[in-house]
Amino acid sequence: MTAAHPQPWPSPSQQPMAEPGTGYVQIGDAVARTDGRTKVTGQALYAGDHFVAGMLFAVVVSSTIARGRIVRFDLDRARATPRVRDILTHENRPRKRSMDIFYKDMTAPGGSPFKPLHGDAVLYSGQPIAVVLAETFEAAREAAQLVTVEYETAAHETELLAHLQRAHEPKGFKAGYAPPPKPKGDADAAFAAAPVKIDAQYYSGAEHHNPMEMHATTVVRGEDGHLTVYDKTQGSQNSRWVVSRVFGLGKDKVTVRNPFVGGAFGSGLRPQYNLILAVMASLHTACSVRLVLTRQQMFTFGHRPETVQRVRLAAERDGMLTSIIHEAVAETSRLEDYVEVVVNWSGQLYMSDNVRLDYKLVDLDRYSPMDMRAPGAAHGVHALEVAMDELSYALGMDPLALRLRNYAELDPATDLPHSTKELKACYAHGAERFGWAARPLAPRSMREGHELVGWGMATGVWDALQMFARARAVLHPDGRLEVSSAASDIGTGTYTVMAQIAAAALGLPLEKVTFRLGDSTLPVAPIEGGSSHVATVGSAVQGVCEKLRKALFKIARKIDGSPFAKARLADVEFHRGAMRLKGVAGAQLPLVDVLAATGGTPLEAKYLMLPHMLKQRKYSRATHSAVFCEVRVDEELGTVRVTRVVSAIAAGRIINARTARSQILGGVVWGISQALHEEAHSDGAQGRFMNHSFAEYHIPVQADVHDIDVLFVDEDDRIVSRLGAKGVGEIGMVGVAAAISNAIFHATGRRVRSTPITPDKVM
Ligand code: MOS
Repeated sequence: MTAAHPQPWPSPSQQPMAEPGTGYVQIGDAVARTDGRTKVTGQALYAGDHFVAGMLFAVVVSSTIARGRIVRFDLDRARATPRVRDILTHENRPRKRSMDIFYKDMTAPGGSPFKPLHGDAVLYSGQPIAVVLAETFEAAREAAQLVTVEYETAAHETELLAHLQRAHEPKGFKAGYAPPPKPKGDADAAFAAAPVKIDAQYYSGAEHHNPMEMHATTVVRGEDGHLTVYDKTQGSQNSRWVVSRVFGLGKDKVTVRNPFVGGAFGSGLRPQYNLILAVMASLHTACSVRLVLTRQQMFTFGHRPETVQRVRLAAERDGMLTSIIHEAVAETSRLEDYVEVVVNWSGQLYMSDNVRLDYKLVDLDRYSPMDMRAPGAAHGVHALEVAMDELSYALGMDPLALRLRNYAELDPATDLPHSTKELKACYAHGAERFGWAARPLAPRSMREGHELVGWGMATGVWDALQMFARARAVLHPDGRLEVSSAASDIGTGTYTVMAQIAAAALGLPLEKVTFRLGDSTLPVAPIEGGSSHVATVGSAVQGVCEKLRKALFKIARKIDGSPFAKARLADVEFHRGAMRLKGVAGAQLPLVDVLAATGGTPLEAKYLMLPHMLKQRKYSRATHSAVFCEVRVDEELGTVRVTRVVSAIAAGRIINARTARSQILGGVVWGISQALHEEAHSDGAQGRFMNHSFAEYHIPVQADVHDIDVLFVDEDDRIVSRLGAKGVGEIGMVGVAAAISNAIFHATGRRVRSTPITPDKVM
């Protein structure tokens, strides 16, 4: 059987659309997901769901040693398994010069990326060393278990705490990741001289990505050799670019699609080895190939790095900070210097004349760490905010009062004004909603039944980024609008929000608007990351719709008896399917009448959205939050319940109240996870992560999540984006674990300086 041509996409059933009758929407409305029905009815096909006749199923064999060399494989039994077609290893993989050099992706850190099946070297435990290809998944899985490997082992170093003395400066920082700024004042002298101070070490273990959808790639090979690659990625164009470069395939030979992604918050920023191996297998066999990693194999690529931090804070007796010293050491691989921004936030959040920040790495025999939701800030701001809490007790001061005492009106790191910063409003509204004023200062003051009750708070901060993007729009004579950009929707609501922006811009009912994303052939869009998609792609969508408005206006003016003949575009609004003159009753034309004047040809527009860097550079741009939380601690069992969270967010203009709230809820749940549940335990002797399943790697379940109250304070940031939006993807997580940790101290008087805060640490 020959492999079929790729399915046309979007097929009508797969293209997310608002429900008929949704009607007119405005920016800010709580619009339900346009992809909701497609997903819950099972019509949305994820990367590993695609099937074509004749395709092969691939199962990866992972290394069982952390470092060494493959001496030989015994593949006889595996090859003899019925329905097995082939087994790829470093010995028989396709060879091309490009495969020796071009593995860098758009978000790669400095160094040289891991190249799967490149040679006999084993660089980390769980490294993919063979790929079994069979006519059924079951056959491939069975055969994969029959592969035996003879290794020559070498000594490995996988434990961060055992190798801190090897900490070195990062060799470089990738775009968007700034090294710590130069010291300000003399932080050490100020610390030594201060009347009140704290000096504390914090530790956070490695955390692994566990989205619902496992990482997967399906390569559909057309009869002409064209590859349509369904990849679990946050950026189809990044995956396409890497495949083209690694395998020397022109842009027209490969299309990458990711119309549906079952969760990803950093795991899909970089192309994973499943992409490379699936394409390699397809080229090797000239067949379509589907490769889905197992849940256990989700622990064999990047993770949030294990990190050790020391924070020293000093203050006058009135609470004024006089010194901030924040040092961090994190793990990286031998291959790359993975960096994140861990300590820099400590120089941005509070006023202090003396600041010293330091960040170092230790190379280990592990896979390179990678971004995970709010990379750097999740643990860096955690340490700062727990330290601030510790300082508040040392001062005998309310923790919120301490933050307000040191509130920074200008960015202390740069002395620049903020584009917008309504953090004070977050503190005020959040505290009021929570009832913070009733909090007793002393720990162990509240008890209910057999549980101690504690209240804690923390500040959150995240970047407000904008990249560049293109968008294309086609307005059909019947008033249907199609907008497209190679954006992604990792479950965040991109489909919905982009359609909403376009519908609002042109006054169209939402069900008349289609937003297409998730295809590398669409207009350029960045990877969905850094909480920048709305400010970036949303602004491109707004821009292309404004071009359409201009085009419609030009046409409308020329229509006989047009009410717009002498008007200016600024006087026109697009409202409920019509153009109308602001404030002039009856001066309007239905859009379909305007479009009819074009003689039935669709109106098309393209737009390139470039950030206004000259303007943006004059401001510090960030989102902020204030998190208040209540915990109940059973001291005998050491169990902690996070019974109440109020998260007050300042993230610019909120485009969709419903999907934005959902982002913050998800961030809070992840914060609970960071505080209480997640940690990958490494076994030093074997050099591998041991708890690689949901039985032992804990994430919150429904019973762990109680009352979460999200509130957005008013902010409208026209510096960050023309929409006024900043971004809500990551800010919801930052500070949550610190607020929980601080609440646990308030409940118990016990300060836990490592995450997760498991029962053994609380008892
Ligand atoms: Mo995010 S960690 O930029 O997906």
